Amino acid sequence: MPVPEVGTPRERDVFTQGRGLMSTVVRRFLLILKNPLLPVARAVSLWIALTYDREKLHRLLGTMYCKPARGKFGSLVFGAVLARWFRTVYLREKDPDVREALKDVCMAGPGGVGWAEHYDRMPIVRSRRFDEEFPFFPTVDSVLENAADGAVVIHIGCSSGRETAYFAQRYPKLSFIGTDIDGPIVSRAERVYQRDNLLYKVARARDILLVTDDVQKLFILSHGSLQYVQPEHLEMMFKSLRNCPDATIIVCEPWREDGPSVGRHSRWRGNFSFSHDYRLYSEQAGLETMSFRTVQTVHDPNSRLFKNRLYILVSKVPGL
Ligand SMILES: C[S@@+](CC[C@H](N)C(=O)[O-])C[C@H]1O[C@@H](n2cnc3c(N)ncnc32)[C@H](O)[C@@H]1O
Repeated sequence: MPVPEVGTPRERDVFTQGRGLMSTVVRRFLLILKNPLLPVARAVSLWIALTYDREKLHRLLGTMYCKPARGKFGSLVFGAVLARWFRTVYLREKDPDVREALKDVCMAGPGGVGWAEHYDRMPIVRSRRFDEEFPFFPTVDSVLENAADGAVVIHIGCSSGRETAYFAQRYPKLSFIGTDIDGPIVSRAERVYQRDNLLYKVARARDILLVTDDVQKLFILSHGSLQYVQPEHLEMMFKSLRNCPDATIIVCEPWREDGPSVGRHSRWRGNFSFSHDYRLYSEQAGLETMSFRTVQTVHDPNSRLFKNRLYILVSKVPGL
């Protein structure tokens, strides 16, 4: 099938977000007119991000998903410090392993478990039909319906385990492995969502094939998790799939066409999230695209989320 292009990667400067110098200066000037204390707040946050005791800084960043643990001073400066830290430390880091470890400072531990609890509370359907709201589910169904008995399904970044358990129950003849980067998140999933054909393992997306010896018939799922994987690690992951005789990957991730480029096929989406062009990573690794589309998730053009689309890709190791 013909595969449409998704946007055109534009090389942009991470720090000006692709705006020209003049428009950046004018924008900043207007912001200062609106809020004269802005330069002071910026200077303080820059000072904290660069010179604050590293341990204290990391403790503050570790409250990203636990507001109550921040204290009064922490609450006051957190937003500005985080924004500075992203620009001056995180996005400037060249080594993807170090960047990944920096991400863990904010996302792992109690914060990650807090998110898993949040996903558990999220209603399955909000305003629209289930398959419209969560196209991941019908896409996975369309692939797993034809899977041979005994095939292994690995869920990357399973968080609460709710989705993994849903599919494990729906396809009792397949073996499921729910994985996540973080031990406490995996322990919680093991406790809360148990199924006979489901086990959980701690694993990073980069090393996903290490979770099983049985790679004969493999399905790999990701729903909102590969967005957090470093571009260099995503490349490694797709390349590693080429070692499997029969592997299919189903990806459903947020996607925005704007944002500063990071690497060849990724853009920074904000915080720890990237808009990766999964089809390009997959094809670069020699996988074959089975289906691909992007869908608009929110219809309201005034919504802050309007620019977000969902990127849905099914690709497989060719020749089978
Ligand atoms: C948005 S959540 C997934 C939510 C899940 N689809 C659900 O609705 O329950 C993303 C998960 O990816 C995990 N994650 C982040 N970086 C990862 C990495 N490099 N490898 C594997 N998992 C990762 C996080 O710990 C988090 O639990």
